[in-house]
Amino acid sequence: MTVSHTTIPALTADDVLARLKQLRARQPVSYSSFYSSQLGGIVTDPALMVLPFDDHMVHRGHGIFDTAGLINGKIYDLEAHLDRFLLSAERSKLRLGPSREEMRDIIVKTTAASGRRDGSIRYWLSSGPGSLELTPAAGSEPGFFVMVFAGLVYPDRWLTQGARVMTTTYPIKAPVYAITKATNYLPNVLMQMEAKEAGFDTGVFIDADDHVGEGSNMNVAFITKDAVLVHPTFDHILAGCTSLRMLELANVLCDRGLLKAIEVRDIPVAEARASGEMLLMGSSVKVVSIVQWDDQVIGDGKPGPVAKALLQLLDDDMRSGDRLIDVPY
Ligand SMILES: Cc1ncc(COP(=O)(O)O)c(C=O)c1O
Repeated sequence: MTVSHTTIPALTADDVLARLKQLRARQPVSYSSFYSSQLGGIVTDPALMVLPFDDHMVHRGHGIFDTAGLINGKIYDLEAHLDRFLLSAERSKLRLGPSREEMRDIIVKTTAASGRRDGSIRYWLSSGPGSLELTPAAGSEPGFFVMVFAGLVYPDRWLTQGARVMTTTYPIKAPVYAITKATNYLPNVLMQMEAKEAGFDTGVFIDADDHVGEGSNMNVAFITKDAVLVHPTFDHILAGCTSLRMLELANVLCDRGLLKAIEVRDIPVAEARASGEMLLMGSSVKVVSIVQWDDQVIGDGKPGPVAKALLQLLDDDMRSGDRLIDVPY
């Protein structure tokens, strides 16, 4: 056995700060502002966007999160995202620190401090620091954090040519976990890595009854060959805010004759594979056509008309609908 004689330095507070800044210089990020209830304020230097290691969100995954879009200086559909955030908190037995109104106010003010007009706003609730146990430490205070950043970016090709997905080999989360937006994203991460390694864009979970589930951070839906929009039921997948809004907005397409009906129900894989269009939907990806699923071409292998029409409806809603909050920069 070889013994290393390298000494590991004992660091001062100044050393730690300098090293956190060096870390960010080595790996630059575009995070514009960060609020931490633990710090009691907002920082804009990414080196200072930190949590205590013993926060249970870090070492046990006892935390939840959600992400809302920032478009043209306005926050889109924040109330729907806060509804889901509060449901996730309740299901995870997390106490709220700030009230819903206070959280909304902190989100809006952190966004204003970012100066950013387009991107994403992600916020977390943690069970707090105080021990390395499983259950929250006695007297621990829940932490609330908000990060304003550039948002996830997908290749233009997804929009112009459509995306290619694979059925993941990883099991879908049990319903109680799938419907809760907790920080336990291991299956989602592994599914996405697996898809990329196999040369696909992303993956799809299938449930034990061979019904379609969801993507890694998106929902999936289908347009049958006879023009019915079908979406999986929300009892075993995350209730996507984008999907829920799309299901409302899509009624316009029924009026226009582009769709015959809209159904939320279990979708057997065989039926899904025979559909005319397959869609990915989520706050960051918006609406994208899937043109290939495993080795099978979907529809005619090109982005379909319903996907395009739904994207237009969503874009209009995000730019000029009635679900926008002005940011007081
Ligand atoms: C697992 C999962 N499913 C679906 C979605 C889509 O949800 P939304 O439309 O609210 O972004 C997300 C994104 O948050 C997700 O992480």
